[in-house]
Amino acid sequence: MASVRLEHVFKRFGNVDAVSDVNLDIADQEFLVLLGPSGCGKTTTLRMVAGLEELSDGSIFIGDREVSQVAPKDRDIAMVFQNYALYPHMTVYENMAFGLKLRKVPRAEIERRVKEAAEILGLGSLLARKPKELSGGQRQRVALGRAIVREPKAFLMDEPLSNLDAKLRTQTRVELKRLHQRLGATILYVTHDQTEAMTMGTRIVVMRDGVVQQVATPDDVYNRPANQFVATFVGTPAMNLLPGELGQSAGALSFHTYGQQIVLPDVLRAAASGLTGRKLTLGVRPEDVHLSPDFYDQHPDLQMKATVRVIEPMGHENMVYLAIGEETLVARAPNDWHAQLGDTVTCAFDPTRLHAFDPETEQALA
Ligand SMILES: Nc1ncnc2c1ncn2[C@@H]1O[C@H](COP(=O)(O)OP(=O)(O)OP(=O)(O)O)[C@@H](O)[C@H]1O
Ligand SMILES: [Mg+2]
Repeated sequence: MASVRLEHVFKRFGNVDAVSDVNLDIADQEFLVLLGPSGCGKTTTLRMVAGLEELSDGSIFIGDREVSQVAPKDRDIAMVFQNYALYPHMTVYENMAFGLKLRKVPRAEIERRVKEAAEILGLGSLLARKPKELSGGQRQRVALGRAIVREPKAFLMDEPLSNLDAKLRTQTRVELKRLHQRLGATILYVTHDQTEAMTMGTRIVVMRDGVVQQVATPDDVYNRPANQFVATFVGTPAMNLLPGELGQSAGALSFHTYGQQIVLPDVLRAAASGLTGRKLTLGVRPEDVHLSPDFYDQHPDLQMKATVRVIEPMGHENMVYLAIGEETLVARAPNDWHAQLGDTVTCAFDPTRLHAFDPETEQALA
């Protein structure tokens, strides 16, 4: 396996900047996930690494070798697409062996690699079947097998699970993660599914409009988002954003919104010092908006009054939609939490888990 490096990579289609100044260092054996909404440039980035798309500017390295001008077949990487077209008239074995045959790999070596990949993927008993005799998940594993037998320097995967139903997707996600560990493979994986990114990635690259927003571990992307876009793209329901401004109350820095205020907790005080009177967007995740007296009685400085608009029972918990002024806040409440619609209730924010953003730049205050 090998590392993969992108340096100042650009791709323009006519006047569309599909990818702008992307710099990435993908370590050997890393599982790096490109995450972002439709059209943000994920596939284009992957295709440039594969050599299927020419760079408008910049360089790409696989290991120590610059490959920007190297033909796709000579880059020694394997790609798994969303549409993993298998050859319908070939067996599972032949599908996996085909690419190696074309490369004139000796027969015994082909057999060794296919058997080994089949073993890893649990396809051993299915080698004589045709694709139409397989389930969707099994077909997807054959497509992965085809990539594994190449023994490439790196794997590029473009939404390989998106054609599977929800249950199979979860199952295959776990298998892919195990596979990554077992192969010690370098994987560059594209998805718009934040759960896939959070569960599989050793690091996540969040992209928007061709521009990298943040490169960080799943934990950091979730807990220390670099800006409002990352903060609201990762996490369901999304992080709540409350517009307001900084003021002083009883000598302490405070956040004011719709006639209410909270004292700014320690985690934000340093970043916000000197900004009194400035506008600020406060970010708080649904699980950090607490509705139980046990919590809010302990945090009198962090309380707000809110009106209950909607309660969505989810079984194990309730999603509570609260109005504060013109904003709606979502809170995750235990499933035994009850209120009438229209009730005014008290909520309090977890002081260790608040975020603050500059409303103009949308960057996190740090
Ligand atoms: N061959 C092309 N010609 C012109 N524009 C293109 C071409 N390929 C992609 N684009 C544009 O480049 C941008 C990035 O596309 P890309 O396919 O990389 O997005 P993506 O992040 O993979 O999206 P999705 O999640 O929908 O697959 C989009 O605006 C797209 O319309
Ligand atoms: Mg795509």
